[in-house]
Amino acid sequence: MKLAILGTGYVGIVTGTCFADLGNDVICVDNNEEKIKQLNSGIIPIYEPGLEELIKKNRQNERLSFSSDNKEAVRKSDIIFICVGTPPRNDGSADLTGIEKVSRDIAESMDSYKLVVEKSTVPVETGERLKDAIKRNMKNDVEFDVASNPEFLREGSAIEDFNSPDRIVIGVESKKAEKILCELYEPLNAKIVVTNIKGAEIIKHAANSFLATKISFINAVSNICEKVGTDINAVAEGVGLDPRINSRFLKAGIGFGGSCFPKDLQAFIRISERLGYSFDLLKEVEKINEMQRALVVKKVSDMLWNLPDKIIAVWGLAFKPNTDDIRSAPAIDIIKRLVAEGAKIRVFDPVAMENAKSELGDQIIYCQDAYEAVEGADCVVLMTEWNEFKELDWQKVKDIMKQPIILDGRNIYDPDKLKGLGFKYTGIGRQ
Ligand code: UGA
Repeated sequence: MKLAILGTGYVGIVTGTCFADLGNDVICVDNNEEKIKQLNSGIIPIYEPGLEELIKKNRQNERLSFSSDNKEAVRKSDIIFICVGTPPRNDGSADLTGIEKVSRDIAESMDSYKLVVEKSTVPVETGERLKDAIKRNMKNDVEFDVASNPEFLREGSAIEDFNSPDRIVIGVESKKAEKILCELYEPLNAKIVVTNIKGAEIIKHAANSFLATKISFINAVSNICEKVGTDINAVAEGVGLDPRINSRFLKAGIGFGGSCFPKDLQAFIRISERLGYSFDLLKEVEKINEMQRALVVKKVSDMLWNLPDKIIAVWGLAFKPNTDDIRSAPAIDIIKRLVAEGAKIRVFDPVAMENAKSELGDQIIYCQDAYEAVEGADCVVLMTEWNEFKELDWQKVKDIMKQPIILDGRNIYDPDKLKGLGFKYTGIGRQ
């Protein structure tokens, strides 16, 4: 099939490349001409395992191309995926001006039947507005459909998630649109949930909000574990083995970040309010997440007594492993708070340091590896559970540090082992 992907951010670039790999002809479009220039010369703007190779392969096969011309891409395609950003406005609601803008380009250039698919995460009822906007701006009297096909890719495993999805959600209003999308996804052999557009839009917000709720729930329980001196990891295991609950997204820690959960929670809260429902449960989920970050700062200052001039090593900056994404990353926020308290920070992250520099500037020290980061440190805080932080030479770490104090923000270490080696250990919801 012939596809246009409007918006070459994370979702657009991965989706477009993976659809090309399934044998479709894909044009990925972005209004950022510099980005398109880079993509056309093989430079990939994000770190995602396997993506670079897949882009190269599909460009060579001439199934994947990059352009900055929305209108031409629309004319050449049968299915148009809208993947532009929907960033939060000041009040947390989703800013849909990007969607409106591309809808105009689509409307003005449609010269035959087009299926216009919302892929960006949008609040419920955006599909209706999109349809109206296209109708209003159409130049040619051609048939079109709008559909919603939310994305469930996780950064760091996005290609695998695309190729083996748990489910594909399709929100449609016509049999024709349903048939086209089912055919497009047929090679993946996945369970397809067909619903109407509003249902699909809510599925996306509800799924991310539920996952965030699981994380905040276990983090709330971790606070109770800490108060009575038991281990949240064992509690989470005991709870999660019930298949109705399951253990995924039940890892306590410094809280969730990223470009999706914090933003989607806010947007879901706001759209619910607009529809006349106060989603207090989700407000509490946000509050608990915020408290986890404050808890890290409190724990560090409890351990070190006074923060001014203390040297704090930080392992990990990305909001989770296998990505260079630092958007809403707990580590960045926590570092800013520690710096504001007068602490001196030394950091290492395998891939997110360049991005972090734009946020944190030269107020902290960037190191070459985990060991350099702990040189002379009064304590080390593990923020992101990269594999390379799991197997370390602990004797070496201890020898390099000024004092062997560790705050395990993701509960990945064995407390007994570290205490046995002479470390003062504390985790989140465990001692
Ligand atoms: C999330 C969803 O998992 C995807 O299904 C969805 O498609 C995506 O948002 C999106 O809307 O685009 P992502 O933001 O890439 O994916 O990251 P996750 O793997 O979900 O992790 C989110 C945050 O939760 C991370 O900061 C992670 O450290 C934290 N987390 C996750 C925990 O603190 N505990 C857990 O048990 C799991």
